[in-house]
Amino acid sequence: MRLAILAQLAAVSFAIPADLNSPSDEQIVAQTIRSINSLYTNSSMLDKCQQCKATLDIGKAISLTRPDLVPEVFIDWCTTHKLDSAANCKTYYSRNTVVASRTGTDFTNLLQLMDPFSLDGDYLCYYKMKKQCSLPELPEIDLSSWWPAKEDIAKVAPAPGNETFNVLHVSDFHIQLDYALGSEANCTTNGMCCTTHTWNANQKPDSVDNSDLKFFDSYYDEDGNFQLGDDVTSDVFNSSVWVPAQEFGAYKCDSPELLINSSLKSIAAYQEENNLDFEFVIFTGDMIDHDELEHTNYNMTIESQELIIRDMKKYFNDTPVYSVLGNHDTFPYGQLASEASGHTNLYDWNEDLLADLWVGNGWIPFEDYQEIKKHYAGFSVETKRGLKVIAINSNTYYQKNYYSYWNMTEDFDQFDGIDQFGTLKFLVDELLESEAQGQRVWVIAHVPPNTQTLPTQAEAYKQIYSRFSPSTIAGLFFGHTHQDQFTMLYANDNKTIEDAIMNTWIIQSVTPWVGFNPGWRYYEVDTETFSIMNSMNFYTKLNETFGNDGAEPVWEFEYSAREAYDPQSTWPADAPLNATFWATVAESIKKSNETAQLYSDFAYRLSPFAPDCSDGECKENYCYVSSFGVNEYEKCAGEGSIDS
Ligand SMILES: *[C@@H]1O[C@H](CO)[C@@H](O)[C@H](O)[C@H]1NC(C)=O
Ligand SMILES: *[C@@H]1O[C@H](CO)[C@@H](O)[C@H](O)[C@H]1NC(C)=O
Ligand SMILES: *[C@@H]1O[C@H](CO)[C@@H](O)[C@H](O)[C@H]1NC(C)=O
Ligand SMILES: *[C@@H]1O[C@H](CO)[C@@H](O)[C@H](O)[C@H]1NC(C)=O
Ligand SMILES: *[C@@H]1O[C@H](CO)[C@@H](O)[C@H](O)[C@H]1NC(C)=O
Ligand SMILES: *[C@@H]1O[C@H](CO)[C@@H](O)[C@H](O)[C@H]1NC(C)=O
Ligand SMILES: *[C@@H]1O[C@H](CO)[C@@H](O)[C@H](O)[C@H]1NC(C)=O
Ligand SMILES: *[C@@H]1O[C@H](CO)[C@@H](O)[C@H](O)[C@H]1NC(C)=O
Ligand SMILES: *[C@@H]1O[C@H](CO)[C@@H](O)[C@H](O)[C@H]1NC(C)=O
Ligand SMILES: *[C@@H]1O[C@H](CO)[C@@H](O)[C@H](O)[C@H]1NC(C)=O
Ligand SMILES: *[C@@H]1O[C@H](CO)[C@@H](O)[C@H](O)[C@H]1NC(C)=O
Repeated sequence: MRLAILAQLAAVSFAIPADLNSPSDEQIVAQTIRSINSLYTNSSMLDKCQQCKATLDIGKAISLTRPDLVPEVFIDWCTTHKLDSAANCKTYYSRNTVVASRTGTDFTNLLQLMDPFSLDGDYLCYYKMKKQCSLPELPEIDLSSWWPAKEDIAKVAPAPGNETFNVLHVSDFHIQLDYALGSEANCTTNGMCCTTHTWNANQKPDSVDNSDLKFFDSYYDEDGNFQLGDDVTSDVFNSSVWVPAQEFGAYKCDSPELLINSSLKSIAAYQEENNLDFEFVIFTGDMIDHDELEHTNYNMTIESQELIIRDMKKYFNDTPVYSVLGNHDTFPYGQLASEASGHTNLYDWNEDLLADLWVGNGWIPFEDYQEIKKHYAGFSVETKRGLKVIAINSNTYYQKNYYSYWNMTEDFDQFDGIDQFGTLKFLVDELLESEAQGQRVWVIAHVPPNTQTLPTQAEAYKQIYSRFSPSTIAGLFFGHTHQDQFTMLYANDNKTIEDAIMNTWIIQSVTPWVGFNPGWRYYEVDTETFSIMNSMNFYTKLNETFGNDGAEPVWEFEYSAREAYDPQSTWPADAPLNATFWATVAESIKKSNETAQLYSDFAYRLSPFAPDCSDGECKENYCYVSSFGVNEYEKCAGEGSIDS
């Protein structure tokens, strides 16, 4: 295949015309675009995937000599060949700036590094370029030389004691700084609803009458008390809006700060009312909103991170918060460069900012400051009871990060190549150290391995987690999907209950986007082994805040995992909610529409948008919970079924 491409490339002779001693930029761009377009003529011998790779190869050549011209060439290519909308083509390939989340500089940097004719090209053309190549077979990956063989003792978790303590888990706040009261919450134009830059393109019929709604400029004061604000109805009401954005949020919008404060206050109030302490908090990321990348800028990224961290500090006081960065918690969106790539300086500012905030708030000890920077905002800490928490920046393996498409074909038995960020080695070193000491470990990250993770990385994590579960690893925690979910790690493809070795905890979001009731949870944790004995989930019915004259949302207990999924109490009271428990739930989701419905209702926190399993809307649930890695999931549910 490579030969065919090279022959074709020779035929189109990508060279600067000889008669031009010093061609102008316009001439170079025009010639490069002609060379690329000739790959796509009807007489071309190339199939779609070869065309994509040959384009990348031409791009690589120009990136090495004239990186400044790459954006223009690729905006043209993306637009001409309809790889995306004209607006998205511009966003993806224009040079990075601080005013909008454009990634052309990152793309150019990747072109310089990558080998278009290797797996780099296959994966990039599949995941970032509209599947012009098909998903390649997962290469052989065997990390077993990274550690001594798993001994039988490592196949069993220690038995829990008889006492528990409590740990809070929150995720996916997604503060929407430009949330505009009274704006369109049912927008049809591109971009985030509930802003002044989106609207509903259809004319609202008179029969839809919102004129009795009232809007208030409410807030939580510095003591955390809700203050019903001034009536601002006359300022914000617009009779042509279909669904006016209310104070506490809407199902097609991210979180106004008022909702974030309400959720944090509900946590503080619950602790006080129940005389219970959360010893620490895990926060699995995502602070910035989901607006169009053109409306996402550097300033708001920083401001959103600062506000969320300030608000958590306010309501959690001295309770340490162990955080990871989400795919949105960077700028431009989803990007992160490794030190080895030579471009890490583009992303240093974020690690500096977060290390300052986390250490400054007393959440992470000062001696970990350098570690946070070294591991791209990842770290490991030991809690006062002796649990190790390892935090990982999942942008190191995120499909939307351009830099992750470098060196994908390196030797997989070496740390290099598959581990350009050094994250896998960091994780394995920490796990080996804990194993030697009989210490138990929780791992926290934003993106779960079966969702938008590069398949090679998902496989590497699967091997690592398999090796150290369930003896050393006591819990794996993620966010990102906004849904309340779990996934299973089985010892083999038979996926029987007996084969279960670990499960993940994927937490519900605070943001209602898209279609969810805001929620949070805490775990009852065994004091001796740090195994999870139960999870307690809370939510608020967002729709009850629509048209109730600005009253504060009511937060309610939603469910206890042990009671909801084992109503007959067949699971021993002294056994943790471990992989065997969750594999049993997975089997039940497969076999019973009733359990599937229960799981879906919880996934959406009983919102009006929870799917109806009797209409066949829950078909993918079993694939989701039973697939640890993205390859497995796509095989089970059909290629590319996840695109959230
Ligand atoms: C190329 O092929 C397509 C589809 O077969 C056809 O519609 C188009 O007219 C052809 N273009 C040229 C320039 O021959
Ligand atoms: C970002 O914030 C700074 C300081 O507040 C301001 O000077 C600058 O104009 C802002 N830039 C953008 C793009 O909003
Ligand atoms: C818990 O176990 C410890 C040691 O095994 C024992 O001394 C203690 O009485 C037990 N506590 C309860 C409440 O059962
Ligand atoms: C949202 O707007 C569409 C028209 O664009 C309309 O059909 C739909 O009923 C509206 N939904 C609500 C909840 O008002
Ligand atoms: C009301 O909303 C419509 C459509 O969303 C918009 O065109 C109009 O400018 C708004 N009017 C005011 C006074 O904001
Ligand atoms: C949220 O809480 C923070 C911390 O108390 C406060 O500074 C901020 O003004 C509050 N914002 C709103 C909208 O309630
Ligand atoms: C990536 O590949 C290049 C070229 O093969 C190699 O020199 C380099 O060491 C690799 N980098 C990493 C981090 O593996
Ligand atoms: C999977 O199940 C089949 C049929 O029961 C059995 O023959 C096979 O050994 C099992 N595979 C593993 C790895 O346990
Ligand atoms: C889960 O706990 C049960 C009850 O203690 C035990 O039988 C089972 O082996 C455990 N499963 C795993 C994967 O540790
Ligand atoms: C809110 O949504 C739930 C779930 O669809 C529904 O049962 C409830 O009646 C709704 N409440 C209001 C006030 O619309
Ligand atoms: C679950 O519901 C679907 C869709 O109505 C139906 O096809 C299927 O047979 C049901 N499965 C079970 C186990 O009841």
